[in-house]
Amino acid sequence: MAAKDGKGRLRLDKFLADMGVGTRSQVKAMARKGRICLNGVPVKDLSVKLDPEKDAVEADHVLVAYASMEYYMLNKPAGVVSATEDGQYPVVTDLIETALRKDLFPVGRLDLDTEGLLLLTNDGKLAHELLSPRRHVDKVYYVEYDGLLPADAPSRFEAGLTLEDGTKTMAAVWEDDGEGRGRLTIREGKFHQVKRMFEALGCRVSYLKRLSMGALVLDPALEPGQYRPLTESELESLGRS
Ligand code: URA
Repeated sequence: MAAKDGKGRLRLDKFLADMGVGTRSQVKAMARKGRICLNGVPVKDLSVKLDPEKDAVEADHVLVAYASMEYYMLNKPAGVVSATEDGQYPVVTDLIETALRKDLFPVGRLDLDTEGLLLLTNDGKLAHELLSPRRHVDKVYYVEYDGLLPADAPSRFEAGLTLEDGTKTMAAVWEDDGEGRGRLTIREGKFHQVKRMFEALGCRVSYLKRLSMGALVLDPALEPGQYRPLTESELESLGRS
């Protein structure tokens, strides 16, 4: 996050590093060679402060756009890891090709084979608000499963299940659509939680997709792998505008 002073200004080296132009030492080297301009003038001393709303910064003659916070809704596809780096698989942050900031991260994790709603942002405070176990934010998942779900499954989900390692789950709501599919609402986010809850009832999840997280609902127009910035009303619903 950019460290702005009381007048909304921040140091040029911080601005350039935040926007992914390079590390602090890389941009320092660029400035020494005259490759960084502030309002058209080459700058050697990157400790100078600027107003990102008014001043024009160029690196190698390309204007550097600025955003202090970014928020994207992604329909996570299967086969992509909910992380910023991975040695084996592509990661969700690689999918946000139009991001200005280079410090986006996924808010929470979906399994490699899970699809659906994932929020990517650099707003750490919002991530904490959505993920804090004390907040009990509702998460709704569309589930397809193999096996025969017991007739009393809704009341057992509601009562809380005991997982294979002895963990007790909080009350969850199961809406059965028939034919091995339905929607499960949970208020916590334990590792592989939905899959383990179904296992506790003798079934195996064959497809899982997150539909919503708190006030944020997956845009049905987004195909797996597609993303868009949050709208003003979505930001407002999250207490950001
Ligand atoms: N529960 C799971 O089992 N997997 C997910 O990806 C999310 C919730």
